[in-house]
Formats: sequence, C-alpha cells, structure tokens
Amino acid sequence: MSPPPPSAPAVLRLLGGLTLPLLGLLCAPAAQGACSLPPDVPNAQPVLGALARFPEQTTVTYKCNKGFVKVPGKSDSVLCLDDKWSDIGEFCSRSCDVPTRLPFASLKKSYSKQNYFPEGSTVEYECRLGYRRDPTLSGNLTCLQNFTWSKPDEFCKKKQCPTPGDLKNGHVNITTDLLFGASIFFSCNTGYKLVGATSSYCFPVENDVGWSDPLPECQEIFCPEPPSIVHGTIQDKRSSYAYRQSVTYTCNKGFTLHGQSSIYCAIKEDQGEWSGPAPECKETLPAVESTPAFEKPITVNVPATKHPAVPRATTRFHATSTSKGRGSPSSGVGITASALITLMRTTKQLMLHFII
Ligand SMILES: *[C@@H]1O[C@H](CO)[C@@H](O)[C@H](O)[C@H]1NC(C)=O
Ligand SMILES: *[C@@H]1O[C@H](CO)[C@@H](O)[C@H](O)[C@H]1NC(C)=O
Ligand SMILES: *[C@@H]1O[C@H](CO)[C@@H](O)[C@H](O)[C@H]1NC(C)=O
Repeated sequence: MSPPPPSAPAVLRLLGGLTLPLLGLLCAPAAQGACSLPPDVPNAQPVLGALARFPEQTTVTYKCNKGFVKVPGKSDSVLCLDDKWSDIGEFCSRSCDVPTRLPFASLKKSYSKQNYFPEGSTVEYECRLGYRRDPTLSGNLTCLQNFTWSKPDEFCKKKQCPTPGDLKNGHVNITTDLLFGASIFFSCNTGYKLVGATSSYCFPVENDVGWSDPLPECQEIFCPEPPSIVHGTIQDKRSSYAYRQSVTYTCNKGFTLHGQSSIYCAIKEDQGEWSGPAPECKETLPAVESTPAFEKPITVNVPATKHPAVPRATTRFHATSTSKGRGSPSSGVGITASALITLMRTTKQLMLHFII
C-alpha cells in the first residue's frame, strides 16, 4: 500500500517553513543585481563601471587587449539573463594593423572597412591616379607570422606625360622628367616675349595624365617706329625693326650729322627700345679761317726771392703758347708789375699783341 499523498495543509506547512529563507535568497540578490562579475575572456577585458552586480538584461561588452582585434562574426558581449551571463567564447585574435598606406596605391574598397587581418591574410591594392600598374609585380600584401605586412614592391609606376615638343624661339626646361607630378619650365630667346604659361605640370586627366598648361608662344618683340629727324632720312627704312636690327640716318646735303649715325633695337623688360637717341642734322657752316684760340694757360712767375728789395719788381711774363712758333716758351718778356695789371685788364687781342 502506497502512503497517502500529502495533504494540502502538509504541503503548505512544508512551503511555509521554506518561504522565508527562500524569499530571502530570491529577493535579496535581486535588489543588488541578478548577475555578479562577468566571466573572464582571453585577451579581452569587460568594460565595467564600479559595479559588482548587474541587473537582469544588462549587457557587458569586452574590449580586446592591445595587439588583438575582434574576429568578425564572434560575439564580444554577454547578457545577464535568468541570473546568469550568456555564453561567450574567445573572440580576440592577433591581427596585423590596418594595411600600410602606400604613396602610389590605395587599398581596394572591399578591404577598407576591414580591421581584422589574421596571419596569412592578403589585401589587394589598386594604383592611385597618375600611376599605372606594373604587371610584373604583385599588388597584394600579406600579413606575416609576426603580424607585420609583407614589404610592398613598387607595383604602381608614375605615368608619363607626352613629350611637350619644341617651343619655337624658346626653350622647354625639363628639370627632372616628364612623369606624373613633374613640372617643366618655358622661356623665350632674347628678342621674344613669352605669351602664356611659364610652366606646366603633369597631372591626372581623366584616366591618364596630361599637362596642366599648353606650350606658350614666343612672340617677336619689335621696337617702336624709329624717330624721324629733320634735314635727314633713314636709310633703307623697313616696316618694322626687331631685336638687334638697326637704322642708319643720313643728313640732307648741306647738313652735318651730330650724334650716332646708327641706333639699334634693344630689349628692356620684354619691350623693344632704341639703343640711343636719333642723331641731329645741323646746317654745315661755311669754312672760316680759324683764329688761334687763346685757351692755353698763362703762367706767371714772380721770382720774389731773386729780387726781394726791388720795389718796382720786374716780373717775368711767360706765355706757354706755341702758336705759330713765334715767341718760344722760354723767351721771357720783362715787364713791370703795373704793365702786368694793365695787361690783365686788356682783351685777349691786346695781350697777343703785347707778346708779339
Ligand atoms: C592577390 O590577391 C587576390 C585575392 O586574394 C588573388 O586573387 C590574386 O591572385 C592575388 N594576386 C597575387 C599576385 O598574389
Ligand atoms: C617580420 O617578419 C619579416 C619576415 O619574416 C621580417 O622581414 C620583418 O623584419 C619582421 N618584422 C618585425 C617587426 O619583426
Ligand atoms: C632649367 O631650370 C633649372 C631650375 O630652374 C635651372 O637651374 C637650369 O639652369 C635650367 N636650364 C636651362 C637650360 O634653362
């Protein structure tokens, strides 16, 4: 015979005996939080405040330690549910850093959002603008065993701009090369003016590279019309005069040219200007008998030491004029001081007269 089932009061009594301690167990922790500290996860740390207990439905997220990266698809958080933390596995793994930035290539779009690169993983690059692919070299990088990226080859090379060609009456200065990024400089020969850009650089255009500026023009510089002169003409006058070309002036009959008979076209600050003023044509004066000009210096010697006591000192008048050979410089003419004063007051003619 089986014992009779416990009567209801008996169950109540049993429960009643347990009620207080049970409630204490259930309710007391619930007030503080349902879960205690979250579990340890290798190579990761939970992001916690100062809390030691966590209520139901609390989520705690972990952060990978330095050098480790979250493996995509793996959970990095735990949830407090029914007093227990949800399961979490190891989700942090060693990874290469974000792939090396290369000056000539950029990471293909499909890799740009990725940040987990386990050992042996490969990333692909594509050439930047202005560069072309060198098909003989690999454009991939691999994450090595020591979690560094393999050394990149220079698998993209600079594209070259077309040869600029010759600059007529000028010069194209290619300082380095014609590759992407290079600049070339233009200059014109003397006598020519540069119209346009003085330099150009090789830059990306559409899917290729091209010059930023076209070749300039070297325009010949001309001088202004040569000045015309009175009583004279320009020989073989041209319609225009360029650098180094000259004009020659001649005077009409009866006129004499004064100044430079020829002037030439010079260049100053990209402008043409004549090398000097045009000459002048002056009326030719009829030939007149030339009178000897009295322009030689007169030296007056006063030998005071020789005749100190003589009151009416005799001075030596000494003319150095060599005109006509008469009266040699050494032949002195003895005159008195008063005569000298008189002489000084007289005209040149008188003086000449006196000497003779
Ligand atoms: C580069 O990587 C891509 C994708 O991983 C692969 O298809 C390609 O063959 C690789 N190229 C080289 C040269 O390794
Ligand atoms: C990583 O390994 C590669 C190849 O084994 C080596 O060339 C490189 O120097 C290593 N880098 C570091 C930081 O150890
Ligand atoms: C070209 O340019 C460089 C740098 O501006 C200069 O040193 C050089 O003399 C130039 N060469 C010629 C031929 O003009």
